[in-house]
Amino acid sequence: MEQYTLEYYQKSADYILGRITERPKIAIILGSALGGVADRVENKITISYKNIPNMLQSTAPTHKGEYVFGKLGQKSVMIASGRFHHYEGYSYEQLASPIRIMKLVGIETLIVTNAAGAVNLNYKVGDIMLIEDHIKLNGHSPMRGPNIDELGSRFFDCTYIYKPELLALARSRANALNLNNILQQGVYYFCPGPNFETPAEIRAIRVLGGDAVGMSTVTETLTAAHCGIDVLGLSMITNMAAGVTTDSLSGQDVLETGKKTAGTIADLICDIVEHLDIKNNHVKPTA
Ligand code: HPA
Repeated sequence: MEQYTLEYYQKSADYILGRITERPKIAIILGSALGGVADRVENKITISYKNIPNMLQSTAPTHKGEYVFGKLGQKSVMIASGRFHHYEGYSYEQLASPIRIMKLVGIETLIVTNAAGAVNLNYKVGDIMLIEDHIKLNGHSPMRGPNIDELGSRFFDCTYIYKPELLALARSRANALNLNNILQQGVYYFCPGPNFETPAEIRAIRVLGGDAVGMSTVTETLTAAHCGIDVLGLSMITNMAAGVTTDSLSGQDVLETGKKTAGTIADLICDIVEHLDIKNNHVKPTA
């Protein structure tokens, strides 16, 4: 196994820190079809993953493979346009790396987005699900291997990965934007892919308590929990999960549907970022 040390990640972070003018405290990871948020950034500094030492490289279609730094409204942000998945061939341990680099850059709050299939029969395509918790019963933890004590404890708490204050803020901002008719809150169930699930798996996931299913996010949010980054997660419901309807699933359809909701999620994310109070522990009281 490759030796992942603090120095290993610091090398990537130092490269980034040498190229940006302001250290952001907020990071956003963009899921499939959600690249539009990066277009709204002003005073952009773009850093290609290819140039960053020790950095993983994007292989997933539609994932660009670059960090975009700059201002979203008044706030300085770091946007990952292109994320990494286990199905690309990366180990769970490798998938810790982008989040650890964020930590060393100075990130305190992480907003993660993804495309997901609806397991909950009350959901509909086009809904946005705030992630209140996740289930990952397969594979091991991204924190497997020697612990890096400077980043976090060997055994770490996962009770509040998806910070209740951030969930409350997201709900109140969605309300302010009149998005209540498409807003859900539920449990994200991780399946590693790249295959979509079988109808029998989806029935099992429903019994286990999953509301939406997807192939990303949890390695990132577990790593964030380990190193003390607060998380807000948003799933864009791009399809009903396998077997809920008689339709077959296709990656292309998921992407096309995703594009229709992407603008709404981008509006919500920008509004949430505007209302984050990064000085006073993240959440600005709303009037
Ligand atoms: N399953 C897994 N991942 C997904 C799905 C799904 O139905 N839709 C979008 N990403």
